[in-house]
Amino acid sequence: MEASIHETTQKRIAVVTGANKGIGLEICRQLSAKGVKVLLTARDVERGTAAVKKLREEGASDVVFHQLDVADSASVASLANYILAQFGRLDILINNAAVGGVELKPEALTLLDQQQQVAFSTLVDMRLESQEKAEECININYYGTKRMCEALISLLRLSQSPKIIILSSELGRLQYIPGENIRKEIANINDLTEERLDRLVESFLNDFREEKLEENGWPASGSAYVVSKIALTAYTRILAKEYPTICINCVNPGFVKTDINWNTGTRTVEEGAKGPVMLALLPNDSPSGLFYCQTEVSSFE
Ligand SMILES: NC(=O)c1ccc[n+]([C@@H]2O[C@H](COP(=O)([O-])OP(=O)(O)OC[C@H]3O[C@@H](n4cnc5c(N)ncnc54)[C@H](OP(=O)(O)O)[C@@H]3O)[C@@H](O)[C@H]2O)c1
Repeated sequence: MEASIHETTQKRIAVVTGANKGIGLEICRQLSAKGVKVLLTARDVERGTAAVKKLREEGASDVVFHQLDVADSASVASLANYILAQFGRLDILINNAAVGGVELKPEALTLLDQQQQVAFSTLVDMRLESQEKAEECININYYGTKRMCEALISLLRLSQSPKIIILSSELGRLQYIPGENIRKEIANINDLTEERLDRLVESFLNDFREEKLEENGWPASGSAYVVSKIALTAYTRILAKEYPTICINCVNPGFVKTDINWNTGTRTVEEGAKGPVMLALLPNDSPSGLFYCQTEVSSFE
């Protein structure tokens, strides 16, 4: 008999994006403790291998590193090829990688240097939102997640219990879009398609360039991040309808102390990772297409 080219593992296999730090790293730690084989991915090889080394030193033996920049289609394809060759399937995809889409003004950086405790509300008005940052944010958060799902769905369909988890946010709720027409269009899940959602996201970027955000019903502050997360919440529902055999949910991890909010969050990474990990380990035939707030089902609106 011919030997299989795949590593034959009974363990569930998970990929976590943006896992060199923050909630992603903690998701890898918790999944590994639950007996899952984890592919810890990061865009930076040095940061990623250091994170794997750290988990291994803590006793997590079945954590493997693979480079992955979700903004780079070639990098995504290379990961998919690696998983196909190595395992022949994927059980869990956790889309965690994201950026905040803003920079801080120099005075905010000084404040963070000087004070141990700075409230997020103090920093809100000290953010700079450039077009470049907005485009990067949409490309990583929204299109990066789409690239990952598109590249890995065929491998997930070979799993006995496939799961996709998308990290959304409190800001991923529809109520954070001021424009009623945009809200209505996104809420109408029966008619909303991926193409229509992409067009909405592109119209947001266009309005950003033309400085017509408020005029056209988009959020005025932290807008690229908010739009990226709302688009992800809607994408979760579209994808869940399209792939009924895959359990696909999105989750707000809570306000967690990590670099994305300059460590102003109030929850620990352990608390933040709980929801995504719970969703990754749901039994077969669990509900799909839902928005969770940590470990509880919540409303998209
Ligand atoms: N913290 C919160 O309060 C909070 C609240 C709601 C939702 N979330 C969501 O939770 C998730 C994790 O965020 P976090 O709080 O843990 O933030 P974080 O500590 O800043 O971690 C973000 C991770 O994403 C990675 N990343 C960024 N761009 C990437 C790319 N192009 N390709 C691959 N990886 C990339 C970062 O890598 P580098 O180190 O290379 O930059 C980092 O590992 C995000 O989706 C975030 O939106 C967080």
